Amino acid sequence: MINVFGSKMGPEELAEVRSSLEAQWIGIGPKTAAFEKDFAARGGLPGFVLLDSGSNALHMAVKLLDLPPGSDVIVPSFTWISCAHAVVLCGHRPVFCDVDLDTHNLTREAVERARTPKTRAVMAVHYAGLPARVDGLAPLGLPIVEDAAHAVDSRLKGALCGGLGEVGIYSFDAVKNLAMGEGGGLTTKDPAKLARARQLRYCGIGKSGFEASASKDRWWEYNVTDFFPKMLPSDIAASIGLAQLRKLDAMQAYRKSLWELYQKEFAGLGWLVRPQDAPADARHSYFTYCVRVGGGRRDAFAKYMYDKGVYTTLRYHPLHLNTIYGSDARLPVCERLNEEALSLPIHPGLKESDAAYIVETVKGWKG
Ligand SMILES: Cc1ncc(COP(=O)(O)O)c(C=O)c1O
Repeated sequence: MINVFGSKMGPEELAEVRSSLEAQWIGIGPKTAAFEKDFAARGGLPGFVLLDSGSNALHMAVKLLDLPPGSDVIVPSFTWISCAHAVVLCGHRPVFCDVDLDTHNLTREAVERARTPKTRAVMAVHYAGLPARVDGLAPLGLPIVEDAAHAVDSRLKGALCGGLGEVGIYSFDAVKNLAMGEGGGLTTKDPAKLARARQLRYCGIGKSGFEASASKDRWWEYNVTDFFPKMLPSDIAASIGLAQLRKLDAMQAYRKSLWELYQKEFAGLGWLVRPQDAPADARHSYFTYCVRVGGGRRDAFAKYMYDKGVYTTLRYHPLHLNTIYGSDARLPVCERLNEEALSLPIHPGLKESDAAYIVETVKGWKG
C-alpha cells in the first residue's frame, strides 16, 4: 500500500539521536535549545519555544492571549480538532466559520459572518500550507492565532507563516513536513509572551532542571505562578528535528516537484478539481495534495484508489459535525468539502515510481 503521509529519516537523524543517547541526556537540554535557535533563525522569527506537540502549542497560544473568561474565538471548521479543543481548554467557546472552496482557508467575510459580540480572537489555519490571508484580517482588530502546522515553509509577502499574527504554532508530528515523531512549537513577537511560554511548558515552573543547573545557589527552588499542564519537549525529538531542519529545503523541493507533477498531469481531468497554487506574493508548503471530486463520486474514487494499493484520506472532518462540538450551524463549504475533498499521497518518502503509478492510476479512473 502506498501511504498518503510519510517522513524521510536517515543517517543524519540517527547520528543526532545517537549523540544525545551517548551524552546520557535525553530530556529537555542542549538539543532543544539548538533547535529553537536554528528554527527561529531559518524563519527570521524573533524567538521560538519547542513543545511536545502542535495540539499543546495551540492550547498554550490561546492561553497566552489572556482573553476574558468565556470569550468567543472564531475557528475555521475545516481543520484539526485540537484547534477547537485549545479554545475550550482555556475556558472559551469556539465559534466555527466557513472556509473558501478553492483555498480551504478562512476569509475575512467568513470571519465577519461568524463574529459575535463576545468574539475576542480568531484562529487562522494555513490549510495544506497555502497561506491564509491573515493580512486581510487586520482591519477586524482581533488578535490572530496562526495555526501553521502545515505551513513550516510557507510565506506571505516574504514573512514566514506562524510569525504574522499575535502567536503562531507549528507541528512536528510524525508526518509533518519537519517530523520529530511528536513535537510542536510556538512563536510570538512579544518577548513577554515568549518568556511566559517557557515557564508554562513546565507546569508553570520558572526554571527547568536544565536551566536551573546554571544557578549558583539554592538551585532546587522554584515558584509556580501559573496553572498549566506539562508540555516539555525532549532532546530525542529535538535531535531528530535538528537533522530534519538541515534537510528541510531538500525535502520541500521534493514535495514541490511531486505537487507540480500532479498539477501538470491532472490538468486535463474534467472530474477532478486540483488544489490551488500559492499566489505571486506567497509560498506554499505542500503538506497535503487535496483534490475535489464532485457529483457524489469521491467515495467511489477513494475506494478505487484503495483497491489499486493507494491510500488516500480526508483532512478534515469539519469540526462542527463532530458530536462534541455539534451545532446547528450550517457551513456549506466545509460540508461540501466533507463530501468532495480527498488527499492524495505527497511526502518526502514517496518514491518517484510510486508517484508515477499514482498519476497513471488516477488518470485511469473511469468513474
Ligand atoms: C491544522 C493542524 N493543527 C494542529 C495540529 C496538531 O498538531 P500535533 O499533531 O503536533 O498535535 C495538526 C495535526 O495534524 C493540524 O493538522
